[in-house]
Amino acid sequence: MDKLVNILSSLVQEKFEKLGIEKEYGMVTVSNRPDLCQFQCNGALPAAKKYKKAPFQIANEVLEELKSLDIFENISIAGPGFININVKDSFLSKYVNDMYKDKKYGCTTPENPLTIIVDYGGANVAKPLHVGHLRAAIIGESLKRIFRFLGHNVIGDVHLGDWGLQIGMVISELNRRKPDLPYFDENYNGEYPVDAPFTINELEDIYPAASKLAKSDENAMEAARKATFELQNGRAGYMELWKHILSISVADLKKNYGNLNVEFDLWKGESDCQKYIEPLVEYLKKNNYAYESEGALVIDVAEETDTQPIPPFIVLKSDGSSLYSTTDLATIWERVKDYNPDEIVYVVDKRQGLHFEQVFRCAKKTKIAGQNLDFDFIGFGTMNGKDGKPFKTREGGVMRLQDLIEIIENNVVDKLKDNKSLEGEDVTDIARKVGISALKYGDLSNQATKDYVFDLDRFASFEGNTGPYILYTVVRIKSILRKVEGEIESFGNKILQPYSPTERDLMLKLSRFNEAIETSFVDKAPHRICDYIYETANLLNRFYHENRIISEEDMAKKATWINLITLTKGVLETGLDLLGIEVPEKM
Ligand code: ARG
Repeated sequence: MDKLVNILSSLVQEKFEKLGIEKEYGMVTVSNRPDLCQFQCNGALPAAKKYKKAPFQIANEVLEELKSLDIFENISIAGPGFININVKDSFLSKYVNDMYKDKKYGCTTPENPLTIIVDYGGANVAKPLHVGHLRAAIIGESLKRIFRFLGHNVIGDVHLGDWGLQIGMVISELNRRKPDLPYFDENYNGEYPVDAPFTINELEDIYPAASKLAKSDENAMEAARKATFELQNGRAGYMELWKHILSISVADLKKNYGNLNVEFDLWKGESDCQKYIEPLVEYLKKNNYAYESEGALVIDVAEETDTQPIPPFIVLKSDGSSLYSTTDLATIWERVKDYNPDEIVYVVDKRQGLHFEQVFRCAKKTKIAGQNLDFDFIGFGTMNGKDGKPFKTREGGVMRLQDLIEIIENNVVDKLKDNKSLEGEDVTDIARKVGISALKYGDLSNQATKDYVFDLDRFASFEGNTGPYILYTVVRIKSILRKVEGEIESFGNKILQPYSPTERDLMLKLSRFNEAIETSFVDKAPHRICDYIYETANLLNRFYHENRIISEEDMAKKATWINLITLTKGVLETGLDLLGIEVPEKM
């Protein structure tokens, strides 16, 4: 379905054209003074300048033309030539009915869907999942859902950090702890054990211990580097160990991400592109893109217009080893080959902005990425504690994601405890859903680039601009619908013209669903959806308080109201789903 403002724009633009004025001037927008009118067109003023006419005259001529159409009501001129527009209730309810019948509530599927890879999550194998990776998961998952909902071909890739020094650290620490394992015997040529020589709990203990030791002990650091080097050169026992680290970690990560409703299509990682590094380097040398500088292989990516220095892209270090930049470039090579994407979106901490600028420039310059491939870096800010510093545990350590989720769920359980209507319900499951809504909505309602303060009490509150508040609104609708269940058939599926200003406002807001989703897509901004569903929930609640839906005796009224709130429920649930938030039946 075309957006409501677009339909209105075309009608008004037609009238501008009829007067010999370029149609661009006839654009209609949603009113920024909803107390005065629903929509407005401000084009008469700039048009007046260009066509040397009085703005009021232009506005007035357009107005006279518009009056002949059966869809406007109370159109008038404000100030020197602003056209204030209201639509007839019949027009509005027709639009809302069309939307009610549409599976995607008025959002259109693109004629040529794009293939978009979303690179998000980015967890590092062998390290416990901590809050630093929370935003990458939450924001990326939402973007993936938005793109997919609109009809694009989307591939979500976790792009694990599974090949770097952290693996060497784990291997060398394990060597210190269990030196008799066959993996460390270079002359071993039997079968390696099928089971991993550690559990996830041990693994989570091994990495921090190794990393701490390596910081103070140069020998330990050297051992970790050596193990990394040997692994990357294919030492058999280390490859076997690496596979164990990977499978144990991935199983745990799947569980953790699953708790957050985050699901990846691809579980690829830095290791997957290793096989492309050799041909990549050859290609870069052969085409004279890369040159040697102080022993390293580099590519210049600075541009004349740069306002700050952009250092060269390093392909290989002087010892011949590859880096984070190499794997990102090789991964683009791999993705182009496997999926030929139109766009790759990276959801990563904004402090990696320079790295990605270099990678993108390098991929374009070397023609690894064709002209039609767009790169997009969604760099997010930090989640801070109330002290304004990056969020930590009470002891000052890095908070594990699992622990954070537990803290939130406990907070919610406390709130649900006294709710009598939840007797016999699975309160743990409800608390999980409400808790996740608090966490995700608290994050997503901020513009991604900004840092924000994690404030549990505010995020988990059932009032205000929070996840639980929106859930509560949907649960309220569900509860009404349960109460009228037996009657529902007789309600049909028609939404009549509004009976009250609040009802009209709710319908106007619902009619803008497609606009909100499209904006969130174009801006790659889930917070646009949060704004929209919050405003919609507020209007629904106002409507609910002004009317007695269940006991309404006028059946025509009751029927339209039931349909209106059913549509509202669909819109809110869809919005929440695009944020990756589930709704409980009760709360
Ligand atoms: N593993 C990286 C980190 O923890 C994030 C990966 C982001 N994606 C990428 N293609 N580099 O910082």
